[in-house]
Amino acid sequence: MKYHIVTFGCQMNEYDSALIAGLLEGAGLRVSKNIEEADFLFYNTCSVREKAEETAIAKISQSRPLKQKNKKLKVIVLGCMAKNKGEQLFEKLPFIDHVIGTDHYRQIPEIVLGAKANERVFTDFDEKENYDGTYAQIQNPFSTSITIQRGCNKRCSYCIVPYVRGNEKNKDPLDILAEVQMSVEKGISEITLLGQTVNAYKKDGETFASLLEKISEINGVKRIRFVSPHPRHYDDELISVLQSNSKICHHVHLPLQSGSDTILKKMRRQYTAEHFLSLIEALRSKDPFYAVTTDIISGFVGETDSDFEKTLEVVKQAQFDNAFMFIYSPRIGTESYLEKEILSQEQKLLRHQQLVEIQNQITSNRSQNMLGRVEEILVERPSSKDPSEWMGKTDNFKKVIFKPTSTVSPGDYLTCKINEIRGWTLRGEVLS
Ligand code: 5AD
Ligand code: SF4
Repeated sequence: MKYHIVTFGCQMNEYDSALIAGLLEGAGLRVSKNIEEADFLFYNTCSVREKAEETAIAKISQSRPLKQKNKKLKVIVLGCMAKNKGEQLFEKLPFIDHVIGTDHYRQIPEIVLGAKANERVFTDFDEKENYDGTYAQIQNPFSTSITIQRGCNKRCSYCIVPYVRGNEKNKDPLDILAEVQMSVEKGISEITLLGQTVNAYKKDGETFASLLEKISEINGVKRIRFVSPHPRHYDDELISVLQSNSKICHHVHLPLQSGSDTILKKMRRQYTAEHFLSLIEALRSKDPFYAVTTDIISGFVGETDSDFEKTLEVVKQAQFDNAFMFIYSPRIGTESYLEKEILSQEQKLLRHQQLVEIQNQITSNRSQNMLGRVEEILVERPSSKDPSEWMGKTDNFKKVIFKPTSTVSPGDYLTCKINEIRGWTLRGEVLS
């Protein structure tokens, strides 16, 4: 029997899909690359913005004809939208078989293979389910992610995540170290630690900083990354480890959300713009090329012109290497959903476009600054535009396109001189 998993949304969902794949393989199922040949079709969904749910529903709807062709096919909806919509999903998608939230993945083989086949909805939270003792399938031959923290204890007023993923649960440090060890034994050299507020990690006396140090001591680990830290959870110990441990990459994805203190307060973000900027300054104090990327929401409820101007001001000061920029999307069940919006969709879009324009220029400048530098890159894959060229990433997470001088494989480390910038893209010449 064969399964196929379609994944939407963030890296956490990617990890969960790999975890589920591991569980299904353990139960004797095999992956089907071709969606049409699958006996079990899983959709791992996202709810963070309304658009994400609409996209997932549209995609899942497309599987209906498959079900008509193969009466035995089971279609299963997983992830954040499964929890968010639950039973309601059967109204929009009457042909689906099961709806399974993030705390029930361990039971998936039982659900799809029979013992629980008569139950349709599995969405309650299970405070005890931390997936200890389970390891995700390796996602990539040289790089893998490991979820070290599930759920979120913050209650940012716009965010649906805590309601669909539950409270913060931190994975046993020994389990994390075992997963890293297993990964390096399979040839992985880059590890990305995942959590909604990953730097708030604390478990059995281990802090995020001490966990990073322990992971860096494992032979075979060359690069350590993490997503996403929260600006509130940096202390001197962590900043010092980030600056001094040579295996921890000089890139951080640090969500700003807004540059106005009034809006940050309304968002319940627990920091000020000044604190945020001071973190960037600390990280870049020893390495001006330390890359900082971010998330920003435009048009949050109550955001005035002057609040938005402050965001633009902080964006200019922060000099982000890149940013994911979103238009505020009110989510049912969140605190800010209850507040009346004054801005029209057009006004929100206009602000968003203004922000994108300013950030694009900064992104391009930050790439330009890399010209002439000699960088170690981790080779990923042939370039999608021209397969005679390859793509790799620098320690500070910039893509570099290069022409190999001899055979290269994904996972190789090469030294490149950055000798051209086209738009945002760095091009390099291989030195060794
Ligand atoms: N509307 C728009 N963007 C949102 N995000 C989270 N919730 C919302 C929302 N309701 C953004 C935040 C977060 C990223 C993953 O998604 O910027 O960091
Ligand atoms: Fe959502 Fe805030 Fe938690 Fe991030 S920290 S997942 S934005 S509630």
